[in-house]
Amino acid sequence: MLQHIKPDRVELGMFVHGFVGSWFDHPFWRKKFLLEDEDDLLKIRQSKVEAVIVDDERGAAPKIDRPSLTPVEPEPVRRLATQPNPMTARYAPPSVAAKSTGFKQEAKRAARIVEKSKKQVGAMFEAARMGQAIKIKDVAPLIDEIRESVERNNKALTNLVRLKSKDEYTYMHSVAVCALMINMARKLDLDDTTIRHMGMSGLLHDLGKMAVPQMILDKTGRLTDEEFSTIRTHPERGHALIGDNPEVPDMARDVCLHHHEKIDGTGYPFGLAGDEISMAARMGAICDVYDAVTSNRPYKDPWTPAMALGRMGQWQGHFDERLMGVFINSLGLYPAGGLVRLNDHRLALIVDNCPEELMAIRVLPFYCTSRLQEIKPQELIVRPDQGPQILGIERPDFWHFEDWAALRSSVLAKAQGLSAAA
Ligand SMILES: [Fe+2]
Repeated sequence: MLQHIKPDRVELGMFVHGFVGSWFDHPFWRKKFLLEDEDDLLKIRQSKVEAVIVDDERGAAPKIDRPSLTPVEPEPVRRLATQPNPMTARYAPPSVAAKSTGFKQEAKRAARIVEKSKKQVGAMFEAARMGQAIKIKDVAPLIDEIRESVERNNKALTNLVRLKSKDEYTYMHSVAVCALMINMARKLDLDDTTIRHMGMSGLLHDLGKMAVPQMILDKTGRLTDEEFSTIRTHPERGHALIGDNPEVPDMARDVCLHHHEKIDGTGYPFGLAGDEISMAARMGAICDVYDAVTSNRPYKDPWTPAMALGRMGQWQGHFDERLMGVFINSLGLYPAGGLVRLNDHRLALIVDNCPEELMAIRVLPFYCTSRLQEIKPQELIVRPDQGPQILGIERPDFWHFEDWAALRSSVLAKAQGLSAAA
């Protein structure tokens, strides 16, 4: 049976079915779990939720000797007994994070999340276009679903949302940036609340596009100076649309207003530079551009993920370099033009993804690390769990490749020469 109890009555061994209160006050992104961890218990007791819904058939029942919903001093948290709790021994321990799954398996679930997102985020954006207040409660649970999908497999959803039709571009771009920011925030080990705020920031960052005439957003030809100026107003318009909505975290306002600022101060709307731009806004800038350049658009061919990461990494002054590194790592992808070490004592140049195989990457091994000498570069397709594997990215200067750009061109030229001769 489900019972509503005050947070201070929650005990270890109870099965948490849900929370009552503002979504942002929930101490956990997962709503249903068996409470076994003392830190989790403290989080619940210290949270601002109005009540906790516990399932006494799946865990310990609330004590009946204390009146329900009466404020009382919280009991000190007791260390969990080493003996299994007979009330909970029947149930498997909860996983702290969603179990990882394969790409194909997660792709099906991700497709359902994307379909739901189209409707819910679309409705929220259309409400903003009509001048109505945005209803965060309608889309907030979506962020938890997106996070769970990203935790199970971080490529399925982010790959799926690269396909966007003209009508749904802004909504799907928002869902994509939401997923990318969550994925990056997880890599940075940020706490649950911050990860949630990051997701909301991604979802709302381009809300101001709803205040820009659709014909300008849809234009496939070159924009006039006037049209370009209109588009550049979207950060401030989005910030105004959010207004003082108490359901929106300040981080989302900040990212909405500053996601087009650049580290060297040449961005807009304010030309902020370096530390003047918050970490969240810098992350938003990276995720925003990555999704834009890798998305399928009717008027341009998208860059492959490897190509996008390789090119973005070379844009001087645009992004925070450290966060760009975190972003690349968070995707588990490799930037085209980068250097990697293989598990067979070879160094290789990353060429690109394989267009027909998402998980495969084309590389050119060109250097033997055991003999410390160059070898004939021949294309190799690295596939997960098959043949040589990539151990990680290497710094060219570590291997004394002082002019990496020149060496890279020479390796490519040799490989092309060899394949032409073959
Ligand atoms: Fe934008």
